Amino acid sequence: MKILVTGGAGYIGSHTAVELLNAAHDVVVLDNYCNSSAVALERVAKIVADETGRPAQLTAVEGDIRDRAALDTLFSEHDIDGVVHFAGLKAVGESVAKPLEYYENNVGGSITLCQAMQAAGVFNLVFSSSATVYGEPPEMPIREDFPIGVPTNPYGRSKLMVEEVLQDLARSNERWSIALLRYFNPAGAHVSGLIGEDPQGIPNNLVPYISQVAIGARKRLSVFGGDYPTTDGTGVRDYIHVVDLAKGHLSALNWMQGNSGVGIWNLGTGLGYSVLDMVRGLEKASAREVPYEIVDRRPGDIAECWADASKAAAELGWKAELGLDQMMADTWRWQSMNPDGYKKQGQG
Ligand code: NAD
Ligand code: UD1
Repeated sequence: MKILVTGGAGYIGSHTAVELLNAAHDVVVLDNYCNSSAVALERVAKIVADETGRPAQLTAVEGDIRDRAALDTLFSEHDIDGVVHFAGLKAVGESVAKPLEYYENNVGGSITLCQAMQAAGVFNLVFSSSATVYGEPPEMPIREDFPIGVPTNPYGRSKLMVEEVLQDLARSNERWSIALLRYFNPAGAHVSGLIGEDPQGIPNNLVPYISQVAIGARKRLSVFGGDYPTTDGTGVRDYIHVVDLAKGHLSALNWMQGNSGVGIWNLGTGLGYSVLDMVRGLEKASAREVPYEIVDRRPGDIAECWADASKAAAELGWKAELGLDQMMADTWRWQSMNPDGYKKQGQG
């Protein structure tokens, strides 16, 4: 199949592009590089050529999902079978400061993309949603049939809004086949060390922050809260290896071959690890100390969050296979091979 990957130069998109190409799909990436580098796509092509022994069928298009004319051109030039839609903004704090940018990119951009897909007769869509749509769930683990919660910030609300737009769209025309994938906490990197997460500025998320402390770029980790009702008092999350997550998108595309309507799946491991488990995991992988101090809780954080991943296993035949040791070893390989992310290449 020929798959359009919006935001394919980003963290999860680049890993998904590798898996799609390795599975012999053709990939067209559309990205405006607002939070990524074209170098990531060169690396994707190298990984695929190394792993498969054949050149990657990868086309990179620089452009914006809000640009309807650019989308129409892309769909007229490429015979696209399905779209995996990652493009969007994802920094929670920034979304509070710049709500219009978030709604314009994440909600407006997704609507423009769907309009262009409909006009081009492309009805298969995989959307990157988030466990944030559950708000503060009543119990763990989180199942897909739990009530939708109240996200505490514009980023979270933008994900929920797009989910609702897509549900309405599927109700309007039975040709649509839409997968809403609710990611838990993606972490890790490709085993080659060539692609990984490359946050701009101070990382918002735990794993990139810890690995920057280990490499010496930051002094110490602030652990947000040591008094949660969890095993060691720190927050618990379901960290999923980005390569497992990427493979979940292939499973969703396969589901679309015989199904229409909307499917909703948690992509998580079903396991919860605390902040201190993650610190110890990276210390082990890097053989370095990660200094930390316990500080106040971060507003909007919940104590714990992990997935019931059984629906994806039953319906998609997908489950996470890589454990914490592998996740941390891969994080550290990426961090130590690319201490400045993709910037050393003079791009991004
Ligand atoms: P990322 O920032 O690394 O990737 C997003 C990509 O989209 C970037 O390459 C960026 O340049 C591009 N982009 C942004 N706006 C665009 C636009 N208007 N037009 C074209 N390209 C645009 O983020 P990621 O971690 O890979 O996340 C991918 C998706 O998954 C996002 O939608 C994000 O909200 C969602 N998600 C991420 C996480 C996470 O923890 N990383 C968790 C849940 C959901
Ligand atoms: C956050 C976002 C969520 C988004 C997800 C993936 C918030 C409130 N939620 O989830 O909407 O979908 O990222 O991008 O921001 N921690 C520290 N110190 C740090 C960073 C994090 O102790 O410097 C702790 C947090 O308190 C939490 C855990 O580490 O317990 C994971 O944090 P993070 O990586 O930011 O992910 P989430 O908060 O789960």
